[in-house]
Amino acid sequence: MTRMTVNGEPLEFRLDPQTPLLWALRDAANLTGAKYGCDGGACGACTVIVDGSAALSCALPIAGLEGAEIVTIEGLTGQAGTALREAWEAEQVSQCGYCEPGMIVALTALLQSNPRPTEPELEAIGNICRCGIGPRVLRAMRRASVPAGVRRASAQSERFSNGSSAAEQPSLSD
Ligand code: FES
Ligand code: FES
Repeated sequence: MTRMTVNGEPLEFRLDPQTPLLWALRDAANLTGAKYGCDGGACGACTVIVDGSAALSCALPIAGLEGAEIVTIEGLTGQAGTALREAWEAEQVSQCGYCEPGMIVALTALLQSNPRPTEPELEAIGNICRCGIGPRVLRAMRRASVPAGVRRASAQSERFSNGSSAAEQPSLSD
């Protein structure tokens, strides 16, 4: 038996200790927001927050999570979650949606530890999208992480830049 707290609720998993957290969440706890993508630690679709940090749940056996605090997309609350939701809508990010819970969870974890991440820190979120929403995700991430006054100045400088814009950033776009 493995005990942990998931979205504020204490849970006991009576599963093989080698069961990946992703399947414990999806199959035993009915929390299906974290998605199964590559199963190889490469895509980020399965991202959840473990003890305050983003983690790939497909690669985490529950045996090592006794007493851990887990937050999934279903449990996101607070200022970072609200800012992200608003930014996601404002930038019209959504497409098929499969990768988005993992992206939102990864960015929430970053914003909770660092409310003003740098461009390299934002681009270092390595989640993959097969639909190509990467440029819109980057714009939403900037919007969610920058104060309103600074955002207006950033948007203006982007418009008058030499064309090197978010749409050309390779990260998150494949
Ligand atoms: S399913 Fe976990 S990283 Fe791809
Ligand atoms: S929106 Fe379809 S995989 Fe990202």
